[in-house]
Amino acid sequence: MSGIDWAELKKAAIAAMRHAYAPYSDFPVGAAALVDDGRIVSGCNVENASYGVGLCAECSLVSQLAMTGGGKLVAFYCVDGNEDVLMPCGRCRQLLYEHSAPGMVLETLSGHKTIDEVLPDAFGPGQLEEYRS
Ligand code: THU
Repeated sequence: MSGIDWAELKKAAIAAMRHAYAPYSDFPVGAAALVDDGRIVSGCNVENASYGVGLCAECSLVSQLAMTGGGKLVAFYCVDGNEDVLMPCGRCRQLLYEHSAPGMVLETLSGHKTIDEVLPDAFGPGQLEEYRS
């Protein structure tokens, strides 16, 4: 996709990763995304002594999205502690889907892919609306 500064997104994801609180897994993660109004939001994983309640980097990213004005995500980049591209886990694909602009593009291990490619036939707000109508 044209017009996306992937290097800038990667830089923001790496900067976020440096804030990770991951004393249990020792696996810091940083995520960054371009919003449809041009701003960049980011997040890091925040773990917990009660392991199961740890938060993925994408959780703090979507929280920042909401807290800074909302909008839709256009492009997404996630890195691990080696600054290598990391695929969002299944739960986080669902989180991202909810806030994605149509055709949102993700950096993946096999090139750029759309949200629909990494979460095909997704369940989302549309199903709820359809059911209610
Ligand atoms: N993690 C993320 O932050 N995002 C993902 O999409 C994959 C996994 C975190 C959760 C946990 O803190 C650590 O990586 C190891 O699973």
